Amino acid sequence: MKLLKRILKWITGAILVLVVLAFLVAFIAYWRSTNDCGKAGTPGSPMKAIVYCEYGVANLRLEEVEKPAPNDDQMLVRVRAASINPYDWHFVEGTPYVMRAMGVGLRKPKDTRLGVDFAGTVEAVGKNVTQFKPGDEVFGGRGGAFAQYVCPRATRAVALKPANVSFEDAASVNIAGITALQALRDKGKVQPGQKVLINGASGGVGTFAVQIAKSLGADVTGVCSTRNVDLVKSLGADHVIDYTKEDFTKSAERYDVMLDNVGNHSLSECKGVLTPRGKYVLIGGGGASDQGFLGGLGKALWAMVFSKFVNQQMGMMMADANQNDLTVLADMMRTGKLKPVIDRTYKLEQVPDAIRYVEQGHARGKVVITVE
Ligand SMILES: NC(=O)c1ccc[n+]([C@@H]2O[C@H](COP(=O)([O-])OP(=O)(O)OC[C@H]3O[C@@H](n4cnc5c(N)ncnc54)[C@H](OP(=O)(O)O)[C@@H]3O)[C@@H](O)[C@H]2O)c1
Repeated sequence: MKLLKRILKWITGAILVLVVLAFLVAFIAYWRSTNDCGKAGTPGSPMKAIVYCEYGVANLRLEEVEKPAPNDDQMLVRVRAASINPYDWHFVEGTPYVMRAMGVGLRKPKDTRLGVDFAGTVEAVGKNVTQFKPGDEVFGGRGGAFAQYVCPRATRAVALKPANVSFEDAASVNIAGITALQALRDKGKVQPGQKVLINGASGGVGTFAVQIAKSLGADVTGVCSTRNVDLVKSLGADHVIDYTKEDFTKSAERYDVMLDNVGNHSLSECKGVLTPRGKYVLIGGGGASDQGFLGGLGKALWAMVFSKFVNQQMGMMMADANQNDLTVLADMMRTGKLKPVIDRTYKLEQVPDAIRYVEQGHARGKVVITVE
């Protein structure tokens, strides 16, 4: 008995020491967390870019930074337009907080540059680049896109922009278009004639998803608010549910695939609108002010567990930006099957206003930045 008590005492003591050590390590890591702000000298070859040294939209600045130089596998692209995604405000705010612990920067953002989606003109190519040449008009995704120049790797998320598509339209495609395509085609495995419900049909991902689901031959139902009903219909939706008047989870209709861009219903409510072998694809949800520690990841983890106990497939998808899928989307735009919806356009120096607008969670399609 005495021995057992002593062992328990030792274990409790060891746990306490470990907890104190973990706190100490986290505290030191937090205060050591920094970035390159203030360390770079005057740029020799300057360009304008959005930079943030601390988390928060109020800390976004338009500054002169060093213009990037492409390596052998990259190309130098003069950015003509970029677009905003909720992804960008996650980085600006550093939320959900788990992101910070996962390498984004505990106290300050490690990477001080912002933006991903861009469209522009190739000015120079590295010596290993064969598929693009100076003068080509391209679009895609590359970190630091809220700037006058980016250097994407030629084999990664970049593709030729169709001549009949504007830079603004092309810049809006990368994250939202690829997410919609992969969610419907790869996760949802949508077949012609299937019933597809898109919750959040009027936003960045939703406006692409309605059009792509239609081109896959689905019978599409879009969920949006009253002011967006006509927009969603005009994109080809067969049925539109106004969420201010009707709760789709209470309807008797059943869907083969549900895309969830909003995450505002419980998993059991969403399961309730699926056919017996239906698929629920969680894309995201939650506004900038309600991210907390895990944000939408909490629901994604719960979906992994929940899915084990039901016949339907339920889970989150993470978009994988790549050249093949950008080319698929480029072809759809070229042939008129896909037309990006642009809500507002801002200038590069107005990126903070554009981010604030998207953070409110009511964009109609995409918000685009034009770059001079
Ligand atoms: N998993 C991934 O790889 C991935 C990729 C891209 C995006 N995402 C995530 O997916 C989510 C959507 O992205 P997004 O670019 O489409 O965002 P967004 O453009 O900001 O979407 C805003 C749209 O959501 C609609 N909405 C708001 N509340 C709604 C409700 N209760 N019911 C139906 N619609 C509602 C709004 O319509 P109203 O104005 O009519 O309310 C608005 O049109 C975000 O959380 C984003 O972080 C994830």
